[in-house]
Amino acid sequence: MKGIFVTFEGCEGVGKSRQIHLLEEYLKKNNVKYYLTREPGGTPVSEQIRNVILDGKNVSMTDECEALLYAAARVQLLKEEVKPRLDRGELVLCDRYVDSSLAYQGYARGLGVEFVEKINDYAIKNFMPDYTLFLKLTPEEAFKRKGGVDKTDRLELSGMEFHQKVYQGYLALAEKYKDRFIVIDASGEKEETHAKIIAALKEKGVI
Ligand code: TYD
Repeated sequence: MKGIFVTFEGCEGVGKSRQIHLLEEYLKKNNVKYYLTREPGGTPVSEQIRNVILDGKNVSMTDECEALLYAAARVQLLKEEVKPRLDRGELVLCDRYVDSSLAYQGYARGLGVEFVEKINDYAIKNFMPDYTLFLKLTPEEAFKRKGGVDKTDRLELSGMEFHQKVYQGYLALAEKYKDRFIVIDASGEKEETHAKIIAALKEKGVI
């Protein structure tokens, strides 16, 4: 593998999409060639799997089934789009990857990190990113930005508990995979966070 594989992670509402968009603008302006994809999705098969996972009608889907579907979409994307590009020496950026499964399914849904790691090791043969940019912002701060949690809303409150677990999961992953994780404080203005991302990618020699 000659290219560089960079993934983006973070809880809901931390501004991940906006930061990826700002990074794209920067890369284009500076004539850096890159390929951007997202999870779940990024190939026709993976997009179909995405539709099954996110379809609100599939209320009977078990947590195990969900975790396996994410892994299935992932290996398809890896083999069809990511690996060939890395083999050609390209820079590949991916909006979410296996750490999302570890944080959401492993930690937050309670399937256990070991189970999620096992099925993903099987699916992607331990194919990990070179760097993972984790946009760090607590779910409380993220909700505050969007106007606060409605305390009378049971779903928003239980949602909060779930997102807290996702956040704690990410913190544990950042500690466990120190060499790969780059923790970016996303609590400031969007331009500040963008500057931190650029500085980190430059420091690692990615751009
Ligand atoms: P998406 O609309 O792409 O959300 P976001 O903009 O936050 O990335 O939906 C992806 C959802 O799927 C998001 O809630 C995180 C979740 N997810 C998992 O639970 N496990 C995974 O392995 C992946 C890749 C995503």
